[in-house]
Amino acid sequence: MRFPILTPQEAADLFHNGDNVGLSGFTAPGAPKVIPGAIAEKAERLHAEGKPFKINIFSGASTSDRCDGVLARANAIGIRTPYQNLPDLRKRINAHDCHFFDLHLSELAQKFRYGFYGDLDIAIIEVSDVKDDGTVVVGMGVGNVPTYAKYAKKIVLELNEKLHHNLYGLHDIYLPLDPPNRDVIPIFKPSDHIGSPVLKLDPEKIVGVVLSDYLDGVKPFTNPDETTNKIGANVCKFLIDEMHAGRIPSTFLPIQSGVGNVANAVLYGLADAKEIPPFAMYTEVIQDAVIDLMKRGRCKYGSTSSLTLSNEVEEDVINNIDFFKEKVVIRPVEISNNPEVIRRLGVIAMNTALEVDIFGNVNSTHVTGTRMMNGIGGSGDFARNAYISIFSCPSITKEGKISNIVPMVSHLDHSEHSVDIIVTDQGIADLRGKDPIQRAEEIIKNCANPMYREVLTDYLHMGGPTGGQTPHSLRASLAFHTEFLSSGDMRNVDLAKYE
Ligand code: COA
Repeated sequence: MRFPILTPQEAADLFHNGDNVGLSGFTAPGAPKVIPGAIAEKAERLHAEGKPFKINIFSGASTSDRCDGVLARANAIGIRTPYQNLPDLRKRINAHDCHFFDLHLSELAQKFRYGFYGDLDIAIIEVSDVKDDGTVVVGMGVGNVPTYAKYAKKIVLELNEKLHHNLYGLHDIYLPLDPPNRDVIPIFKPSDHIGSPVLKLDPEKIVGVVLSDYLDGVKPFTNPDETTNKIGANVCKFLIDEMHAGRIPSTFLPIQSGVGNVANAVLYGLADAKEIPPFAMYTEVIQDAVIDLMKRGRCKYGSTSSLTLSNEVEEDVINNIDFFKEKVVIRPVEISNNPEVIRRLGVIAMNTALEVDIFGNVNSTHVTGTRMMNGIGGSGDFARNAYISIFSCPSITKEGKISNIVPMVSHLDHSEHSVDIIVTDQGIADLRGKDPIQRAEEIIKNCANPMYREVLTDYLHMGGPTGGQTPHSLRASLAFHTEFLSSGDMRNVDLAKYE
């Protein structure tokens, strides 16, 4: 190989305080696995000497503990975008040690190209293969790597031996032009390939290659429980009823499924819903459940930005890669989540909420309105442009101390305009064509937990007949949350205090 092999420590020397750093990958897959650990050690050394050292990280989405985790523990991240999901980084963000800005995932690459965030000093790109002319095959996640590769002043590669150099053909790398020259993105079905299976890097920018030997290490999801199984069954019931009513074609439409335990349970529900024909996915992550659905012939094809798999399932895919190359394409996130394509294909979007309010607004990111959980991710890219936008969540959390249906969301990610259907373990609320009071009645009756229905109905009536189109009581709208913060249990809420 023409490029020098570096130790992780030698690579870490390439990074300086305040550098803007672009990372390959999307969620853990495809993100670097060894250089960040060496950068974290360097940061700790410098901090011990009283010197400042933080880098700004632009990724595709979340990464793994080998990246965000180690860097967060070393307090070595200055700015972070567009998504994260690790407890150590979450703590830094909520303590203002790290400036996180939450962004629709499809937008970061173009906003970077528009020059909104400055220069990119260096990119770390995980590859499964590299040629002397700078042509690389990337790893199991793409994210924003085409943009970072083009704009970075320097590139350091992580060549991952675990990927067996055999991923050629799994990716479709495409970089759109920017306005006013942007053209149609010519994807007319999820399996359409419009770009290249390889990424062409400028060999002059590649300063070295670090060898790595780790799978992506995605934590397996917890097995579906009674609540998530009920949510999954309700989503499937809704989809089947829509198909029978002729509102979803009998050949079905591509599905997007969000992240998390609830989303995983919904996918397992689809596996068993035999009335739903084998379907395609146009989504941003393909989780373990989808690999299972592909093997069982339930999922015909998946377009994604990463294969977000536990080690065991990832190994299975690598060992049977020829089968999966026929079933999967991994794209840059600005294409996997592209609004134009999502709307054209008629994607059915299924995302998860932390809480939903009685008028149909959704909070996906902030616990009790203040503490960042993960970020909006791609949920907005899909929800806003979907054929049908479904949000699901349990009706209660923490043994009922929290109602996931509240009078007013404590933080807004998806407004009522991007939400068609709410599903909980209790049932389905169809919000289409309903005004705010009708939506509230539907959500309270079908989705709220019985232990909260009465108090939510009382809230709805607090505004009275002159309460306007959306009859909130501004004094009581966050009473559930303030009650939880003071007594630890929303069931203690007393609306009379606010009259
Ligand atoms: N208030 C406070 N805490 C809440 C809560 C609420 N209303 N609802 C859930 N929680 C807590 C749960 O108790 C759990 O806490 P724990 O880790 O201490 O057990 C945690 O939040 C996660 O809840 P869980 O029910 O396991 O949900 P999940 O794994 O399905 O994740 C989201 C749910 C919303 C956090 C996750 O889907 C997400 O980050 N979504 C935003 C990004 C996105 O949608 N991307 C998809 C595009 S593909």
